[in-house]
Amino acid sequence: MKALLTTGLNGLVGSRFALDFKNIYEFNNLDLRDQNKPTDITKYDQVLTRFNESTAKHVVHLAAYTDVTGAWQQTDDANGIAYQVNVIGTENIIKAAEATNKHVIYVSTAYVFDGEKKELYTEEDVPNPIEWYGKTKFLAEEVVKKAQCPWTILRIDQPFRSDAFEKVDTVHRIINGIKAGSLYPQFTNHYFGPTFVNDFGKVIDFIVRTNTTGLFHATNGESWSDYDFAVAINEIKSLGAEIGKGDLEAYLKSSARPYQRNTAMSNEKLAKILDFKLKTIREALSEVE
Ligand SMILES: NC(=O)c1ccc[n+]([C@@H]2O[C@H](COP(=O)([O-])OP(=O)(O)OC[C@H]3O[C@@H](n4cnc5c(N)ncnc54)[C@H](OP(=O)(O)O)[C@@H]3O)[C@@H](O)[C@H]2O)c1
Repeated sequence: MKALLTTGLNGLVGSRFALDFKNIYEFNNLDLRDQNKPTDITKYDQVLTRFNESTAKHVVHLAAYTDVTGAWQQTDDANGIAYQVNVIGTENIIKAAEATNKHVIYVSTAYVFDGEKKELYTEEDVPNPIEWYGKTKFLAEEVVKKAQCPWTILRIDQPFRSDAFEKVDTVHRIINGIKAGSLYPQFTNHYFGPTFVNDFGKVIDFIVRTNTTGLFHATNGESWSDYDFAVAINEIKSLGAEIGKGDLEAYLKSSARPYQRNTAMSNEKLAKILDFKLKTIREALSEVE
């Protein structure tokens, strides 16, 4: 089996990748929770030791502080955990990769954009983050882009997996909400680009297999409003609910935290080079348990 350095392999996205590719890769995961080798990516010495120990040629860097509201409460605080994990952690990964000549695959987010574009975002669009989580992920992208080692950035949005996970994804939150009768009215004027994690794992594997470098949008390439998405889930899962309609603009008037109105991204650049076909969102939803 091929050795693969990873971070964040116990998270929502990483744990599905680990499950699907357990027979392909021998994972060398850097994790605080590791029983034998607990590793904090904010500590360079710990990262470098693990990189030196590994024969892996690639590093899949998924670890991040992903609580957007929690990050917003730390705005401009470079000592806060969001900046430390997302920016300093990524700096450490890059420095160690440069020192050991490894290819870094950094997983980023559509939240680097301000959400004001009416069409799908492309890789040519200029990031302009409007809240601290997006800002820290953007600053990390800038670190990656300057790296003196091979690098790939994969931006995703609202990842969901076929199975239920301890950190509840968008699709399972909607299913749970419908079943409990507690689903809020869904915005008809907020748009996003769902990412089917089971497919995204195959994208990571493709990048490793082909040594592809550069910046790519790695969602399933579609744009959905929250309302249409919930209606589709309700229909495909035969849940028989009536989905209420909500208004993002009304919500924003009472929300202190900024929200991106649109984070849907075109995946055309990536889809053109992949050697497999990404599922449509309807196909992906039909696989959700
Ligand atoms: N979820 C989303 O909606 C979304 C959207 C767009 C992009 N992304 C990006 O996709 C990636 C994966 O997201 P996710 O939702 O799978 O994240 P997640 O479930 O929150 O998992 C984050 C992982 O990072 C690890 N981690 C945090 N601090 C660390 C540290 N100091 N040292 C080592 N490991 C540390 C955590 O380890 P422990 O488990 O030990 O705490 C956890 O495994 C992230 O880069 C995120 O920015 C996510």
